[in-house]
Amino acid sequence: MTAGPTPGRTTLDGIAPDKLPRHVAIIMDGNGRWAQAQGLRRTAGHDRGAGTIRNITTECARLHLEQLTLYAFSIENWKRPRAEIQYLMRLLRKFLIDERPTLEENDVRLTAIGRLDDLPSSARKELDRTMELSAGNRGLNLCLALGYGGRTEIVDAARKLAARVAAGELAPEDIDEAAISANLYQPGRDPDLLVRTAGELRVSNFLLWQISYSELYVTQACWPDFTVEELHGALRSFATRTRKYGGLVDAPEAAVRR
Ligand code: IPE
Ligand code: IPE
Ligand code: MG
Repeated sequence: MTAGPTPGRTTLDGIAPDKLPRHVAIIMDGNGRWAQAQGLRRTAGHDRGAGTIRNITTECARLHLEQLTLYAFSIENWKRPRAEIQYLMRLLRKFLIDERPTLEENDVRLTAIGRLDDLPSSARKELDRTMELSAGNRGLNLCLALGYGGRTEIVDAARKLAARVAAGELAPEDIDEAAISANLYQPGRDPDLLVRTAGELRVSNFLLWQISYSELYVTQACWPDFTVEELHGALRSFATRTRKYGGLVDAPEAAVRR
């Protein structure tokens, strides 16, 4: 049996399932600031942040969301001090091993986007293993963005398309939005809701192609303090949005055409 919303039942008190986003993407920011505010080293913030991932993933699975995409490590984050990168990569490896039972319990499939070949082989090996072990799960898709850059993703898609043109398999005029979308790291539904923790008002090279019509939500809470209640706040805010995609809502057809 695959998990899915029960028709006619609400999944978050007072909010109908069709008012929930199907795909949530989160820029998990503020681990360092959280730690510094407690007088701790930045790495303590990353440790706590890993716990937040577990709680938020479990809640998204419980609410029957289809996808949760988490910005875990950007391509620009390779510029950080070596010691912090090493710490993050060891933490990633540990997380990927430790989370396996929880992913299984919640029917969550783990996937990843980014330049995964740039990851250290020890982390890459456990990533591949966890993806393989969870591949049959049919609930939430937990997608980790690792060594990820939005511009790089578009460059990589352009290269794939260019190679097909060079091979005579594709005409330049056949390159349209659908073709670019289909050649991204993980083609699929664009995020309905983009959340950023820790208050910065920027997208930091995340999912540049896919967020063109995502609803935005920024909270001051640092990622280690992003509780299930904070997530509910973001989902409630999303439920009040009117998504127009440049069109008009409830307008007579003639007015829409004009
Ligand atoms: C987010 O927290 C985690 C990563 C980018 C890996 P930060 O490490 O960016 O924390 P701040 O923004 O410096 O507080
Ligand atoms: C964005 O956070 C990247 C991740 C959350 C992985 P950063 O801390 O790297 O972003 P900037 O430097 O504040 O833009
Ligand atoms: Mg940051």
